[in-house]
Amino acid sequence: MTRSACRRPVQRTRAFAAALTLMLSALLPGAALAADAAHGETLAKRWCASCHIVAPDQPRGTDNVPTFASIAKRPGFSADQTARFLMNPHPKMPDMQIGRGEAADLGAYIASLAK
Ligand code: HEC
Repeated sequence: MTRSACRRPVQRTRAFAAALTLMLSALLPGAALAADAAHGETLAKRWCASCHIVAPDQPRGTDNVPTFASIAKRPGFSADQTARFLMNPHPKMPDMQIGRGEAADLGAYIASLAK
């Protein structure tokens, strides 16, 4: 941002923007922070295991569908991004009407597989 001759309003705007950012970050990723990976695992076993290998103890999934562990280990993987991705059915997936909380739980569960 370029500094204008009139400094004060700019600073006030910045402080306001910072406060707003703080408020938003307290609200939005809150869903992901509160995500329950154990619940995500239950959902994954119910909804996703017909195609994906969702847990290390699952003997088989569908050919050419990435395992959740391999998805979790991809560079740039993020639970948040995965949760957002799951809010829209992916092309080869049936439309499962996953809610925001469920998507966050699934994202958290998949992320836990990278460890
Ligand atoms: C009908 C089969 C099927 C089901 C059921 C299914 N998936 Fe998928 N999923 C796929 C396929 C196929 C791909 C690979 C898509 C591609 O490569 O374009 C994929 C890819 C993904 C990816 C990786 C997307 C990326 O960024 O490349 C994620 C994450 C994912 N699935 C999550 C889930 C979750 C969570 C569930 C359960 C709620 C689920 N999937 C259920 C078939 C399925």
